Amino acid sequence: SVYSISALIAAYLFGSIPTAVWIGQAFYHIDVREYGSGNAGATNTFRVLGKKAGIPVMLLDILKGWTATNLAYIVGTSTTGPFNSVAFVNLQLALGIAAVMGHLFPVFAGFRGGKGIATLFGMILAINLPAALLCVVVFITTLLITRYVSLSSILAGFIYPIGITFVFHVSVKSVIIYGMCIFILVLVTHQKNIERLLKGKESKVNLFKKKTT
Ligand code: G3P
Repeated sequence: SVYSISALIAAYLFGSIPTAVWIGQAFYHIDVREYGSGNAGATNTFRVLGKKAGIPVMLLDILKGWTATNLAYIVGTSTTGPFNSVAFVNLQLALGIAAVMGHLFPVFAGFRGGKGIATLFGMILAINLPAALLCVVVFITTLLITRYVSLSSILAGFIYPIGITFVFHVSVKSVIIYGMCIFILVLVTHQKNIERLLKGKESKVNLFKKKTT
């Protein structure tokens, strides 16, 4: 419907808010995309500007995905039927992905954005809290052991479809297919990271140091 299409556009625009770029420019007068991994995300903001900038970027990027996904509660039901219907969940997924696309290709920052992990997490949080928690556990465990954020993101993305299918027994086909697509998307956005990981050249995050360049 017209409502769903406007909501999808709103979700894309929401995801397009380039928090990493804007916070870097506003408070540090730099574009984080010119440093570190060149990525406009929470991880690279943390890497380049420290946790005082990195944590707000992470929270805002999660909020983008969460808010966009929850737009379904405003425009849904009339078009999709009840909150627990398959059509409603499909709308949530479409809105979340629209926000992720905005984050990857932000209209407000020359279409050069981030890798979408925080935004994807916000979306999963809005749709399936237990699955989001499972992803967090995998992410944090991998991070503490390896200190590679990229590997942590990839493994969290890998566990998501497995978790919803085999741990939480979600049986809605489209949700499972979306879950697998999300993992593939994570692999695609992390291509350069994967190359660096394989060469042993990926940068590790220093969780206790303030600033690294
Ligand atoms: O959140 C993205 C993360 O998985 C990798 O970021 O900057 O290390 O490429 P980066």
